Amino acid sequence: MKIYRINGGESLKGHVYISGAKNAALPILAATILTDETITLENVPKVNDTIIMVETLEKLGAQVEYLDDNTLKINTSTINKYAVENPSIKKIRASYYFAGALLGRYHQARVPLPGGCNIGGRGLDMHEKGFESLGADVKITESEIIVDGESWPLSGARIYMDKVSVGATINIMLAAVLTPGKTIIEGAAKEPHVVDVANFINGIGGHITGAGTDKIRINGVPALKGGTYAVIPDQIEAGTFMMAAAITHGDVVVDNVIPTHLDSISSKLKEMGCRIEESDESVRVIGPQGQLRRTQVKTLPYPGFPTDMQPQISVALGLADGCSTVVESIFDNRFMYVNELKKMGCNIVVDECTTAYIEGVDYYQGANMTSPDLRAGAALVLAALAAKGQSDIDGIEYIERGYENFDTKLRALGANIEKLEV
Ligand code: UD1
Repeated sequence: MKIYRINGGESLKGHVYISGAKNAALPILAATILTDETITLENVPKVNDTIIMVETLEKLGAQVEYLDDNTLKINTSTINKYAVENPSIKKIRASYYFAGALLGRYHQARVPLPGGCNIGGRGLDMHEKGFESLGADVKITESEIIVDGESWPLSGARIYMDKVSVGATINIMLAAVLTPGKTIIEGAAKEPHVVDVANFINGIGGHITGAGTDKIRINGVPALKGGTYAVIPDQIEAGTFMMAAAITHGDVVVDNVIPTHLDSISSKLKEMGCRIEESDESVRVIGPQGQLRRTQVKTLPYPGFPTDMQPQISVALGLADGCSTVVESIFDNRFMYVNELKKMGCNIVVDECTTAYIEGVDYYQGANMTSPDLRAGAALVLAALAAKGQSDIDGIEYIERGYENFDTKLRALGANIEKLEV
């Protein structure tokens, strides 16, 4: 078993280079299925989730070559199966993007039900509704999503989303790009990765407008071309390092970011007493000399405060100068880390699984903890960096699903963190 052993107390200082966005890279990897021509993808983070997506493309029959750790050359014209059979794919949420991409390109798909972090009910009804609106038959069994667009031709449709869903918005885009006619998604998600997928598809000949607003229009095109595309920087990795600077009272320049994607995080950090300096492609976070200030947070779809930053900010508020509340409005079970955090002396109570009341304490004490999911695992690492004494964190395979070289990057900023085999 691999663990992180952290001796807390070091203020992080220096520059950190942010990798490509996992949640943009995953659907873009699936979207390469939509063209027979060769795609070169740059700035793909080499994390467990993207490795599983690549393996799955290969198992479907695609040719994939790593030109370096973060650059992939992909040709999917040799795909000869429409059923995803890689057992590892069940571990990740983004497996559902194979349903949209295979449906759009080959009019049929069988994909194991998605896994991913256990952060509450994660329905598929919006995906199902979208595919059905385009004319596909959709069956969701106990183990699979089966989509069939062969029985009658797919055609563009107007789809009203009942909830804002990143995954369903992107999946409908993937299914609609090559579908004749006009598809309109009303109530679309506006996250940066939705826009990035649309930019990638438009760059190879697709016709998508309105990505980044709540109304996306897709005019079906007969075929897409090849090309080269660089994935955007990871908003959540950047936010995590910004929070690491704040909680350790450090001074960190987070490089290779799009500062507007970080506005909601920067704004909370300012309320908490940090100084923020933005440049074109970097954000510097200077933590306060004294205690962080308390604040109120509610997670919301973009441009609101991201749910994927909720554990990290809660951990920081556990060391603030009074009572903070954190309301989780996207997922219904995203406080699984709280019992672990309590081992460090955090004074946090969760009501109805949606609201955390946090009374700041003067310090955390190092403890042995288990990472319950990806972002919560990263948050426990931040708590350990700020704590007195030593912490061992296991379950780090969750963290490695989404953070490229997390421990190496933290060490370069002065953190006392080791990855050990125990
Ligand atoms: C994606 C991200 C995840 C992030 C989340 C919200 C990936 C691989 N994962 O997850 O990191 O936390 O967006 O920004 O990109 N819902 C339904 N029915 C559906 C679809 C969603 O009820 O068909 C609900 C979900 O249960 C959740 C909410 O809608 O309560 C938002 O989910 P969604 O935006 O779809 O999240 P994911 O795509 O799963």
